[in-house]
Amino acid sequence: MKRMLRALWRPFRKGLDVERSWMESPAKFRDMVKFLSWFDKTSSIQETMDRAESDWGKLITAFDDYRQVPRRRCLEIGFGGGRLLVESSKDFEHALGVDIHNAFDKTREYIALAGRTNVTLLHKDELDTLEDASIDFIFSFIVFQHFHAHSEVDFYLGQIKRLMSPAGCAHIFFRRNETSGIKVVDPKDFRQRHSSLFIEPALFRERVRRDFRVLEYQDEMKKHLDQPESPQNVSGQARVVFVHKVRHVPSDRVEVGTEQPGERR
Ligand SMILES: C[S@@+](CC[C@H](N)C(=O)[O-])C[C@H]1O[C@@H](n2cnc3c(N)ncnc32)[C@H](O)[C@@H]1O
Repeated sequence: MKRMLRALWRPFRKGLDVERSWMESPAKFRDMVKFLSWFDKTSSIQETMDRAESDWGKLITAFDDYRQVPRRRCLEIGFGGGRLLVESSKDFEHALGVDIHNAFDKTREYIALAGRTNVTLLHKDELDTLEDASIDFIFSFIVFQHFHAHSEVDFYLGQIKRLMSPAGCAHIFFRRNETSGIKVVDPKDFRQRHSSLFIEPALFRERVRRDFRVLEYQDEMKKHLDQPESPQNVSGQARVVFVHKVRHVPSDRVEVGTEQPGERR
């Protein structure tokens, strides 16, 4: 019924610019919990911190290769309120984040509240100031699905290729398209904070493999990690872990090849 009403109303809708909505909306929130909740629904600062710890430990760093990633600098693409930057700054000497929103002061306030001082925030157009091969771990969680266009995927994969250190690694989460191909939501159908970019997992991996070696991937993940697998407990997320095609691991061993022997489902 709701869907039918939306379809009827569609020709009269003005549409909502996806990118502008992410840029401008966060600056409206003065209250910290409301600010954090814009990016990841929450009812308290503690809840945000607890969920960040769980997402960091059980999802973002939960792959075998994480143990051998050097711990100098990491970069989060789309840091939002800063909850995962806080977690990553506990594992790395320095945590950097890039985003497009206009409320970096509020993110800084949250990071200070969490007592972290080794974090730097960058606007997207400042990414070029980072040195080539200077980042050991690049991650992005619930962000690629909010891009306004598929060209953003190419932009960030290009930056990852340039920035990833020789022994580095990336872990990217994205929203699965349930049918084939790529779906970009029309601004007329876009609703605030909803996903706007859906990608068929095989296509995403194919694009990643052009420039990298895939170590591990998952096309279907559990929605609630603490609950058993079931047809109801499926999230819309998919993920890929990847490294340079020729990788210099810390022991000076060189890994070469485009094969993916460690690839897991
Ligand atoms: C749902 S929030 C997730 C924030 C954070 N990763 C987390 O898990 O709490 C999505 C974030 O993606 C950012 N974003 C949207 N489009 C972006 C783009 N083109 N480049 C960088 N960040 C973007 C938004 O500004 C927002 O901070």
